[in-house]
Amino acid sequence: MTQKTNLSAGRGYLAIPGPSVIPDAVLQAMHRAAPNIYAGELPDMMPGIVSDLRRVARTKHDVAIYIGNGHAAWEAALANVIGEGDRVLVPATGSFGHGWGDMAAGLGALVETLDFGKSSAMDMARIGEALKADTAHTIKAILAVHVDTSSSVRNDIAALRTVMDEAAHPALLMVDCIASLGCDVFEMDDWGVDVMVTACQKGLMVPPGMSFVFFNEKAAEVRRHMPRVSCYWDWTPRAAPELFYQYWNGTAPTHHVYGLRAALDMIHAEGMEAVWRRHDVLAHAIWAACDAWGSAGSLAFNVADPDARSRAVTSLRLQSPNATALRDWTENQLGLTLGIGLGMAAPGDPAWHGFFRLGHMGHVNGHMIMGMLGGIDAGLKALDISHGKGALEAASEVIATGQVSPDTSP
Ligand SMILES: Cc1ncc(COP(=O)(O)O)c(C=O)c1O
Repeated sequence: MTQKTNLSAGRGYLAIPGPSVIPDAVLQAMHRAAPNIYAGELPDMMPGIVSDLRRVARTKHDVAIYIGNGHAAWEAALANVIGEGDRVLVPATGSFGHGWGDMAAGLGALVETLDFGKSSAMDMARIGEALKADTAHTIKAILAVHVDTSSSVRNDIAALRTVMDEAAHPALLMVDCIASLGCDVFEMDDWGVDVMVTACQKGLMVPPGMSFVFFNEKAAEVRRHMPRVSCYWDWTPRAAPELFYQYWNGTAPTHHVYGLRAALDMIHAEGMEAVWRRHDVLAHAIWAACDAWGSAGSLAFNVADPDARSRAVTSLRLQSPNATALRDWTENQLGLTLGIGLGMAAPGDPAWHGFFRLGHMGHVNGHMIMGMLGGIDAGLKALDISHGKGALEAASEVIATGQVSPDTSP
């Protein structure tokens, strides 16, 4: 039989690096009649949500919640501590680092970018030099992205804090954990992070629309010295509201609150360490498969050093136009949607079709990852794309033993 049978009917699988797969429990929690926003369950839920968010961020400090995406959290964080003419340092390891820097420039900040390319982590020595050269301490903040979702580079934030301390530099350490929170290990307080921004649609498993800015006392003090902060972005009343509407500066995102409640219940029922370990083992299973595929043909990691790779997203290269052909095939034939390459080549450039990404963040488990890898393996065969053999065996070995190399684990 030579006729190809389409195998895409059934439950689709969105394996892009956010928005991620939404758990049924979250969807069901959101499927309800409109709740009262003035009294009752919804306002009563908030203190528990705030304390459970803190447990995910590993902080005892404050959190302000915004109705908006990750870009809103970027702007919210900047609006509270960065004014016109303030200097910020951006150590960029992909498009999102540059993006946060661009937003700071749009608000009138003087942005100095250290560009570490798209395939390597930050070079702490260069950052240390830049800080030591700033003897007048005019750099007010460092804007660092923990996991840059475009490149899948993961940066060592604890090491960044050490470099700042060694330079005795007082700048705020502001960190974007939009891709990493609830996937890659992150310790806000232990690592000395002053401001952390994240959003709900990746490791937090809620449909896009809510974002969060965590800030410590040092950052709050900087905020107090700002000449002005717009009422909407001001994190102070949101983090310490006297009335329910102040959490949102207006009407609450009612159904998102219920979804977030369900997601936090799932995360804490599993336990943060267990969530991190699950992501770690699943990422290693993916990498084992990629190592095998890459032993022949053109498939290659964007980030060669496993120590510098995220546990939430993996950026891959496959000779153009095969990355796009593979994505099209798995989506159309199997109902498996893989991520496009982002920021690696301009749309319209033929090279754009040589990059793709795998999202493995949030509500993912062993059989989903094995299914995703099986789909890719089938696609490589169906499209006659040259690749090494044994990828699924290599991945199932990791899943079976749950063993990951200590060098590459959190
Ligand atoms: C690391 C990182 N920062 C910022 C953003 C921007 O978030 P959003 O698209 O929700 O505005 C994203 C989105 O993917 C991201 O991955």
